[in-house]
Amino acid sequence: MSSLKLAVIPGDGIGTEVVTEGRKVLDAALSDVKIEAHEYDLGARRWHATGETLPDSVLEEIRGADAILLGAVGDPSVPSGVLERGLLLKMRFALDHHVNLRPSKLYPGYASPLAGDPSIDFVVVREGTEGPYVGNGGSLRTGTPHEVATEVSLNTAFGIERVVRDAFARAQARPRKKLTLVHKDNVLVHAGGLWQRIVREVAPEFPDVEQDYLHVDAATIFLVTNPGRFDVIVTDNLFGDILTDLAAAITGGIGLAASGNLDVSRTNPSMFEPVHGSAPDIAGQGKADPTATILSVALMLEHLGHNDAAAKITAAVEADLAERGTAARSTSQIGDAIAARVAG
Ligand code: NAD
Ligand code: IPM
Ligand code: MN
Repeated sequence: MSSLKLAVIPGDGIGTEVVTEGRKVLDAALSDVKIEAHEYDLGARRWHATGETLPDSVLEEIRGADAILLGAVGDPSVPSGVLERGLLLKMRFALDHHVNLRPSKLYPGYASPLAGDPSIDFVVVREGTEGPYVGNGGSLRTGTPHEVATEVSLNTAFGIERVVRDAFARAQARPRKKLTLVHKDNVLVHAGGLWQRIVREVAPEFPDVEQDYLHVDAATIFLVTNPGRFDVIVTDNLFGDILTDLAAAITGGIGLAASGNLDVSRTNPSMFEPVHGSAPDIAGQGKADPTATILSVALMLEHLGHNDAAAKITAAVEADLAERGTAARSTSQIGDAIAARVAG
C-alpha cells in the first residue's frame, strides 16, 4: 500500500468547515492509500494565543509533506494582512509556489449568471511569488495628511519565464492550444514590457500555440461578454488574483473555484486550496459550499499522480452539480453526497 503524507491547514472561518469535507472525499477516493495527515493549528486562534502566524519550525516540518491542503485564512479579529501575509503568503513564497493554477469551467447543467449558455473552460496561470505581493514597500509620515505609501511590484525575467513556459506547455496540451497574456503594458510599461518580451522569446518553442494579448481592463470585459475566447491565461500575481474571483463568479460561484499553488520543480510540496477566503459572513453556519475544496483535492491528486482517484472526484462533483437544483444543502450534506458518489 502506498502512502501520502499530507499537511492540513484548516485555518479560519469556513476554512475548517470545507476542509472537513475535502478530507472526507479524499478518504473515499484514496481508499487504497495510507494517508498520514497532520493537522496544523494555524490561523487566528493560534495568533491570539501565542502571537505566532507560521513559526519557522512548523514551516520546516511542512516542507517534509507530499502536499498541503489549506482551507482559508483571515479573521475580522486579526488586523488585515497579519495572517494573509504571515501565514498564507509566507508559505507560497517559502515553498516557491510560482505557478498558481486556477481552472475555470462551467459544468454541464450548471448555470452561469451570464446571458445565453456560454461555453467556459479555461485556466488561469497566475504567477505566485512576485508582483506587488513581495512586500516591497513602506509608509512615510504615517498617520499624517502627508503620508506616502508604496507597494513596489517585483518582476524578474527568471520568475516570469518559468511561469510563461508552464502556461505555454499547458496550452500546448489542451485541445484549443491558445495562450492569452493579460497585463497592462500601456501603463505599466516596465513590467508589462518584460512580460511581453519573455512571451515573445518563449513562443518559438511552442509553434502550435496561438498567442494573443489583452490589457487587464479589457480582459474583464471579455470574461463577461465572451468567456469562450479564453483557453489559457497567463498573468501576474495581482491581476491573476482579481481575474480568478471574476472567473469563479461566471462559472457557478466562488464556492466552486479550486486552485493549486505549485512548485513545478517539485523541490517543495505544492499547496491546494479553494480560491475563496474564510467568509466571516457565513462562518459557523454550515452554509459554505465545500465543492471548491473538494475540486482542489482532485487537483492535488492529479499533481501527485493519482489520476484515477482525481477523475473519480471530478466525475462525482460533476454529477452532484448536475443534480443540485435549488434546494439548500448544508456544507456536510454536500460533502457526504460527493463522498458517497466517489465511494459508490
Ligand atoms: P471571501 O472569499 O472569504 O468571501 C467573499 C464572499 O463569498 C462572501 O460573501 C462569502 O460568504 C462568499 N463565499 C466565499 N466562499 C464561499 C463558499 N465556499 N460557499 C459559499 N459562499 C462563499 O472573501 P473576503 O470576504 O474578501 O475575505 C474574507 C477573509 O478571507 C479576509 O480575511 C481575506 O483576507 C481572507 N481571504 C483568504 C483567502 C485564502 O486563505 N486563500 C482568500 C481570499 C480571502
Ligand atoms: C487568494 C487570496 C490571497 C491572494 C490573499 C488572502 C493573500 O485572495 O488566494 O486569492 O491575494 O492571493
Ligand atoms: Mn483572491
